[in-house]
Amino acid sequence: MKSIPGMQDILPGEVEAWQKIEAFARDFFARYHYQEIRTPLLETTDLFVRGIGSETGVVQKEMYTFDDKGGDSVTLRPEGTASVIRAYIEHHLAHADPVTKLFYLGAMFRYERPQKGRLRQFHQLGCELIGSPSPHADAEVIQLLDGFVRGLGLSDFKLEINSLGCLKAECRPTYLKKVKTYFEGIASKLCADCQRKVTTNPLRILDCKVEACKKLANSAPLILEHQCRECAQHFEKVENNLKHYRIQYFVNQRIVRGLDYYDRTAFELTSDKLGSQNAFAGGGRYSGLVKSLGGADVTGVGFAIGLERLVMLLEGTFVPAKSITIYLAALGENAYAKILELAQNLRAEGFNCEMDYEEKSLKSQLRRADKLKCSHVIILGDDEIQKGEAQVKDFKTQAQSHIPFPQLISHFKSL
Ligand code: HAM
Repeated sequence: MKSIPGMQDILPGEVEAWQKIEAFARDFFARYHYQEIRTPLLETTDLFVRGIGSETGVVQKEMYTFDDKGGDSVTLRPEGTASVIRAYIEHHLAHADPVTKLFYLGAMFRYERPQKGRLRQFHQLGCELIGSPSPHADAEVIQLLDGFVRGLGLSDFKLEINSLGCLKAECRPTYLKKVKTYFEGIASKLCADCQRKVTTNPLRILDCKVEACKKLANSAPLILEHQCRECAQHFEKVENNLKHYRIQYFVNQRIVRGLDYYDRTAFELTSDKLGSQNAFAGGGRYSGLVKSLGGADVTGVGFAIGLERLVMLLEGTFVPAKSITIYLAALGENAYAKILELAQNLRAEGFNCEMDYEEKSLKSQLRRADKLKCSHVIILGDDEIQKGEAQVKDFKTQAQSHIPFPQLISHFKSL
C-alpha cells in the first residue's frame, strides 16, 4: 500500500531538519513573547468559508470537506489563521492581554495538484499578533519572520511587500472597480481561469503565473496609487520601520494573497530555488476577520511558513549534532545481564545506547555498532565481569581503555 498522492512521510534522516526548525522556532518566537497554540485539524466548514472567503480558490476547490456521522459539514484545516482566531474568540484570550501573540505548527490540507513543493498535506509554522492596529506590529512580525529564517542560515531569498488598502469606499473598492474595468476590456486575452476571475476576484489576476496574463497585468492600475491616505500612511510607517531594522525588501504590487481576509500590509518570502511554487512564507494584516467570526472589532497580523519548502531550501545546510552513542556488546549470559544494568544507568543519565537482542557473535554485534555509526562501544565478557570493568572502544580513534563499572558514567560525561 502507498501513501495518498501529495501526502508524504517524513522519514528518519529527514525529520532531524524538521526538529531543528521546530526547536529554533520555539526558542526564537518566545523572544518576541509568542505562546504556542494547538487547534484541532477538523473544524466546521463554515469557519473557513467565512474566514477565508467563499470566492477564494482554497474554499472553492481545495478543501477536504465531508459530512461527519452526525451530518455536520466539517473540513480539514487548509490554513491556521481562521482556527487560531476562532480559538482566540472562544476562549476570550484577549482578557489576559489586549495584544495576543500566538504561534502554531502543524499539518494543513489543500486538495491541490501535487508537484514539487505543492502538497495536499503540508505543514505550516505560523504566528498571529492579534489586537494591535499599529504599523509597528506589522513591521515586527515581518522582522520576526526575516530574523527567523536568517537565524536558520538562509540568506538567499527575497522579502516582497505590498499594501492591499482597506474596505473604505474610496480605498480598495474604488481600486477594485478600476481593475475590474481594465480586465473586462481585455478579458478575451486572459487565460480561462483569469476570465472567470474578472467577475469573481479580479485582484487575483495580478498574481497569475501564465505569461500572457502577466504581460497584460503589467499595465493594470496599481493599488499603491489608489489607496486612501490612512492606508498610505500605514504602509509608509511599515516601510520606515523595516529601514530601521535594516531589512532589505522589495515593493511588489502584484502581491495580492490567495485568502480574502487581508487588508493593508501583505508580504511574502520567495526564492528562485523553489521553481514555480516560489513563496515559502506569506502573511499580512487582517482587520475584518475577528469580527466576521463573531469577535470584537480588533485587527491582527501574521504569517505562515510552508515547512516543506523551507526544508527544501535548507537542504544540505543541516549538520547533525555530534553526540555520544554507545553500543553495548556482550559475550555470554553474565555479561548480557550486566549490560542491561549499564544501559539502563547510562540512558537515565541521558546517553544514547543500543544493544543486540539476539545474543549474536561479538563480531556481528561490532558490525552493527559500526553500521549504526555509534561513537563508542562497550565490550563485556566473563573476563571483564570478573575484573569489574568494561572495555571501552572509541570508534573514531580506535583507542581502547578499561573503565571500572562505577566510573563508566563519569567517564562518558567527561567526553
Ligand atoms: P498561504 O500563503 O496560503 O497563507 O500559505 C503560507 C505558506 O504555506 C505558503 O507560502 C507556502 O509556503 C505554504 N503552502 C501553501 N499551500 C501549500 C501546499 N499546497 N503545499 C506546500 N506548501 C504550501 C496562509 O495560509 C495564511 N494563513 C498565512 C497567514 C497567517 N496570514 C496571516 N496570518
